[in-house]
Amino acid sequence: MSQSATRMLSNTDPALRRAWHPVARSSEISTSPRKSRLLGEDWVLVRLPDGTGDSTLAAFVDRCPHRLAPLSAGSVDGSFLRCGYHGWCFDAGGTCREIPSQEESDRVPSRAIATAPAAIAERHGMVFLAPEPPLTELLDIPEADDPAFMHGALEPITARVGAGLMLDNFCDMAHFPFVHAATIGTPESETFEFTVERRGFGMNVYSRHPFPNREDPGVAAGIRPLLQERVLEYRYRAPFSISLRIDYVEAAGTNVLDFYVQPEDDEQCRIYTTVHRNDLDGDETRLAECIAFERKIVDEDLTLQERYRDRRLPIDLTTEVHVKADRTTIELRRILAELVTCPVE
Ligand code: FES
Ligand SMILES: [Fe+2]
Repeated sequence: MSQSATRMLSNTDPALRRAWHPVARSSEISTSPRKSRLLGEDWVLVRLPDGTGDSTLAAFVDRCPHRLAPLSAGSVDGSFLRCGYHGWCFDAGGTCREIPSQEESDRVPSRAIATAPAAIAERHGMVFLAPEPPLTELLDIPEADDPAFMHGALEPITARVGAGLMLDNFCDMAHFPFVHAATIGTPESETFEFTVERRGFGMNVYSRHPFPNREDPGVAAGIRPLLQERVLEYRYRAPFSISLRIDYVEAAGTNVLDFYVQPEDDEQCRIYTTVHRNDLDGDETRLAECIAFERKIVDEDLTLQERYRDRRLPIDLTTEVHVKADRTTIELRRILAELVTCPVE
C-alpha cells in the first residue's frame, strides 16, 4: 500500500474491501433478487427459502460464472437462485446445483460457483457485507433493539459524495453554526469540549455542554430554562458507520441517530439514517416529524458535500490545515489511514 505524502481515500480504494459496509436495509431484501453496488462492483442480495419456513440471506457478485449474466436478473426457485439466462441454479453458498442444459449424470464444472463475499450479516435493520475478511467491527447500537425507544428509518438517499467526507462531516461539530444555521446550529456549538477514545478501528467521542433547548416544550411552559445540558456520544466504527447518542439532561430524553454510508463507486454513495427516540410517548406523528427534521439536516450537509469536486478524503494529515476543534476528525483520518495501510496477513 502506498505511503505517499498525499494519501487520499477514494470511495473505491481496494483496501476498503477488508471492511464491513452497509449494502441495503433488511426490509429491502426479499426472495426477489436485488442489486446493490459497493466499491465499484455489483452484488446481488436475496433471501433463499431453506424449506423450513425460514430463509438464508445470500449475496453473490452479480455475475453468473457461466456467461457472466447479472444474477440479479434471475429468480428464486425453491432454495436456489436461478440465473435468468440459461437457468443454472446456485445454493446459498454459491455452489451450482443444477445445469438445465446437461444430463444429470454430467459433471458440474468445478468453477461453476457464484462468488460469495467473505462475510454477510444483518444487524439493526441493516444488511452488511465484507468482500474480503473484515478487519473492522460492526457497529453495536443497544438503543436500536430497546423497546423503550421508537425507531424511524429515513428513506435511503443516493448522493454524489465521498464516503470519507460524509463521515468526516458527521463527526465534525464546528460546521453546525454555518451549515445548519436553519436547523441545529447555534453560535456556541463550535466551541464544544470533548474527549476522544480510540477503540481498534473505531472511536467513541464524548462531550457534555450547555445548549439552548428550543425543542423542549418544558421551556415554553416555563418548567425548565432555555439553557440546558446535553451529553453527546459518537460511536464510530471504520470505515463508514457511526451513531450519535444525545442525552438531554434536564428534559430527560435520549435521541440516537445512526448513519451509514455505502460507497457505491467513486462518484456516488447511498446513505442510511435511522433515528431512535425514547421521549415521544409512542406518538407516530412526532416520530414522522423527527424523521423529516433529520432529512432536512442531511440535506443541508449534502448541499455542501455535493459541491466537492474531489470526493476523496485526505488521510495523511499534511494536505489540510487542522485546529484543536478538529481532533475528532483528525482521529478519523488516522483510523482510516491505519485501516487502509494494514498489511494483508
Ligand atoms: S449466464 Fe447464467 S446460466 Fe448462463
Ligand atoms: Fe452536518
